[in-house]
Amino acid sequence: MTPPMVDGLRTMELGSPGEMRAGLNGLVLAGRKTATAGLVNQHEDEAEQTEQVGERLALVDDSRTRVGVVVVDRVERRRLADVDWSFAQDEGEGFTSLEHWRQAHRDYWASVGYQVTDASEVELIWFHLEQGLDTLAIHAGQEPDPATGAVNVPIYATSTYAQDGVGVMRTGLGVGYDYSRSGNPTRTALQDCVAALEAGSSGFAFASGMAAEDTLIRALLQPGDHVVIPDDAYGGTYRLFARVLARWGIRFTPAPLDDLAAVAAAVEEDTRLVWAETPTNPLLTVADITALADLAHRGGARLVVDNTFATPVLQQPLRLGADVVLHSTTKYLGGHSDVVGGALVVDDDEVAAALEFHQNAMGAVNGPFDAFLTLRGIKTLGVRMQRHCDNAEAIVRVLAEHPRVTQVLYPGLAGNRGHDVAVRQMSRFGAMISFRVAGGADAAAQVCSRTRLFTLAESLGGVESLIELPGQMTHASVQGSPLEVPGDLVRLSVGIESTDDLVDDVRWALSE
Ligand SMILES: Cc1ncc(COP(=O)(O)O)c(C=O)c1O
Repeated sequence: MTPPMVDGLRTMELGSPGEMRAGLNGLVLAGRKTATAGLVNQHEDEAEQTEQVGERLALVDDSRTRVGVVVVDRVERRRLADVDWSFAQDEGEGFTSLEHWRQAHRDYWASVGYQVTDASEVELIWFHLEQGLDTLAIHAGQEPDPATGAVNVPIYATSTYAQDGVGVMRTGLGVGYDYSRSGNPTRTALQDCVAALEAGSSGFAFASGMAAEDTLIRALLQPGDHVVIPDDAYGGTYRLFARVLARWGIRFTPAPLDDLAAVAAAVEEDTRLVWAETPTNPLLTVADITALADLAHRGGARLVVDNTFATPVLQQPLRLGADVVLHSTTKYLGGHSDVVGGALVVDDDEVAAALEFHQNAMGAVNGPFDAFLTLRGIKTLGVRMQRHCDNAEAIVRVLAEHPRVTQVLYPGLAGNRGHDVAVRQMSRFGAMISFRVAGGADAAAQVCSRTRLFTLAESLGGVESLIELPGQMTHASVQGSPLEVPGDLVRLSVGIESTDDLVDDVRWALSE
């Protein structure tokens, strides 16, 4: 019997060994049940198709009303005797031992007419509840505090944790903590939230974006290894490779990431990472993430994508084939220019283990106060990004027509190199705009000093609008290098103020 469809999706029926039946969907919705077991011969008798990895299934109640959607992460067939305790825990139904799990399942299957033995084949399905990005931003990793019910994750301002015996951690929050460099519940919440937003399995939060970069590179590379970096990378990334890591034997080659042949030519036998920013800071170059991932993987390298400018609201690099996503959470994720931080997200247990080890061993962790502020910022990421984009588009329209502007760099402009790729991989084009001013660096500097609402300042991604001259400010560190940026380039980080006020400010700054 083929199970009925709901909203065009096959349905997910959760069998249950006991009294849990009525509450099973609730366990899934609360994130406590992330796996389920089916009897293979039962499927075959009922001619059911087995679930496929990546398949979306409607979770239905007894009256076949959809109460959620789940996505299948992993499917395995095992003998009943080979099901292990970690699966029994993922089933989330309160089993107290593996034998309890086995007996309950034998009894359940017997009650629906199937005798099972230790040799019976069972299908194990792991899944997660699908939720929209705005829901994840507010809830992922942020269950109400189990001790008090506090709706917001508390700032766990503690360096150490009482242990219940020598080496016996308290597990009231699900995991045990012993020292806040190794783990802190406020940081855990931020890490889980960022991982969910980027569709990864593990997240790591650091003291700054640069600390995230350094930890990633030292976790994955050895002296002698080689990295391809963007030829217009963020100045601090270039400085890290050129002036710090080069002394420790990491080699690098800058390449234009929007030219795949040039990237391929830059890849060497020892290339372990292709490092992408897209769009880049400050030239807004767009790199094709899927194509770069293919190219990197063919050469035995991993693809890192710095997603600081786009954020997961506009683009999710792991879904496009990247191996690691990096953020300066100082920017849009924090969103209020009140905290510095960085994050890494991966969907690979081996890389996650290396990052976890190095995060603790190197120690550049995000503190609990900073994690709290960043989490608070993330809650409004979705609505902020839409407003940022609305304002940026209005300003781009003014710049594109202005006689003093010689070039506008914005991935959303049809004429821009990279526009077609941006249309494919981004949902909108972000709120960073660069433009060149007729009359050279002095004229550009004059524009920067005339705005009233746009504040002349480094950084980006906050609710307030900022203007800067990259050649003399954020990118001064790449002057004289292959990454030098034009002196007449002005960069805007468009905030979420009223659109007309921002447009008027830009017009005023450009008026002679
Ligand atoms: C694209 C990009 N990546 C990384 C960083 C470094 O982040 P942080 O300043 O948080 O160390 C920045 C900072 O401006 C950036 O713009």
